[in-house]
Amino acid sequence: MKIIFILTLTAYFSQAEVTFRSFQVQHKKKYSALELTRREQIFNQNLIKIQKNNEKYRKGLVSYQMGINQFSDLTEEEFSSRFKTLPLNNTKLKNVLTQDSNNFNISDLPESIDWREKGIVTEVKDQGLCGACWAFSATGALEGQLALNYKTLIPISEQQLIDCDTKVNVGCDGGYIQEALQFATTNGLTTEENYPYIQARGYCRKWKKNVVRGGGYVNILPYNETDLKLAVGLMGPVSVAIHSGPFQFYQSGIHSGAACTDNVDHGVLVVGYGKNTSSQEEYWLLKNSWGTSWGENGYFKLAMSKNNTGLCGIAKQSCYPINVTNCGYSLVQNVLVLGLVCIKLFF
Ligand SMILES: *[C@@H]1O[C@H](CO)[C@@H](O)[C@H](O)[C@H]1NC(C)=O
Ligand SMILES: *[C@@H]1O[C@H](CO)[C@@H](O)[C@H](O)[C@H]1NC(C)=O
Ligand SMILES: *[C@@H]1O[C@H](CO)[C@@H](O)[C@H](O)[C@H]1NC(C)=O
Ligand SMILES: *[C@@H]1O[C@H](CO)[C@@H](O)[C@H](O)[C@H]1NC(C)=O
Ligand SMILES: *[C@@H]1O[C@H](CO)[C@@H](O)[C@H](O)[C@H]1NC(C)=O
Ligand SMILES: *[C@@H]1O[C@H](CO)[C@@H](O)[C@H](O)[C@H]1NC(C)=O
Repeated sequence: MKIIFILTLTAYFSQAEVTFRSFQVQHKKKYSALELTRREQIFNQNLIKIQKNNEKYRKGLVSYQMGINQFSDLTEEEFSSRFKTLPLNNTKLKNVLTQDSNNFNISDLPESIDWREKGIVTEVKDQGLCGACWAFSATGALEGQLALNYKTLIPISEQQLIDCDTKVNVGCDGGYIQEALQFATTNGLTTEENYPYIQARGYCRKWKKNVVRGGGYVNILPYNETDLKLAVGLMGPVSVAIHSGPFQFYQSGIHSGAACTDNVDHGVLVVGYGKNTSSQEEYWLLKNSWGTSWGENGYFKLAMSKNNTGLCGIAKQSCYPINVTNCGYSLVQNVLVLGLVCIKLFF
């Protein structure tokens, strides 16, 4: 009896060791000799967390799976310290519009929507080791409005925001999504191609032509998922902030919001909503900026709450840009069309 127990234990640990090795290879992790032991310990603790969750998933107790990803060697604290959207301080935001949901008719809401299918969501990006989620959330919302208005889907530069939008925002150390949308309104933004991402804060450079200019933004009243749904369903992708910790090992399915608080620290983009027809569970569809190996090819689903206030703080500080124009040029079938003024184009 004793021997069998020990053998099982040995088999378990060597399996974990193999898993850790392949994790290191897959995610190109290099540790100093000193760090290796600590990272392996953290990894193994995380692995147990992942396995416990997936056991519950197999029993039908939770509707999402966890998996090993680039964050599997980090403690919860280390993980959370990477993604910083500053908590909203309303006193710093001037002349802000609030969504008047009376302008919408709730019966116009589609039952479900996935803006990716409408061709207005760019490829999933990877912020890497830089806490500029706020910039990624903002460019995602701008890209959506630009594509809706001009039928041109162009990746917009986060680096420009990181380097140049520095009055309040602090680059890789965090920022307000709203402040970024305000910057886009005042200064315009160029393409990712013109001003590429470098995962660090640099000097604000001169850039070639702007491709987008915001026309202000709208805040959605907090803690009301119906208002959020009206915006996502009828306006386009919406920037939100969430509590990121519980998503460290998320792999697929509808996250229940377990272990979530509304202490939001991470900016992401709502690109749709829907309902699982067999479980009847309603969810938000979100685009993250952690690369495509995380989650469902970079996306995730979060359950809608039972009391309409939103899980993980999703409805706490959401917003979207309005009156987004194409100031500079548009790409029409790869032909550069130059324009000196902002002209609303329809094609
Ligand atoms: C919000 O901003 C105001 C003005 O800058 C400042 O006095 C206040 O301490 C800030 N509050 C928080 C919670 O950061
Ligand atoms: C939430 O928003 C909807 C739509 O605007 C509104 O009808 C409802 O009264 C709001 N709920 C609360 C609690 O404010
Ligand atoms: C909302 O839309 C429905 C269906 O199109 C229509 O019957 C209703 O009158 C509209 N309500 C308002 C307030 O416009
Ligand atoms: C819907 O929910 C059922 C039951 O929880 C699950 O088996 C199925 O995989 C879900 N479907 C999708 C598309 O996630
Ligand atoms: C809504 O539900 C959540 C848990 O799902 C709870 O934490 C929160 O206090 C509730 N809010 C209200 C206003 O009932
Ligand atoms: C600006 O956006 C608001 C809200 O979407 C809209 O009502 C208004 O007509 C827009 N203004 C212009 C000039 O497009």
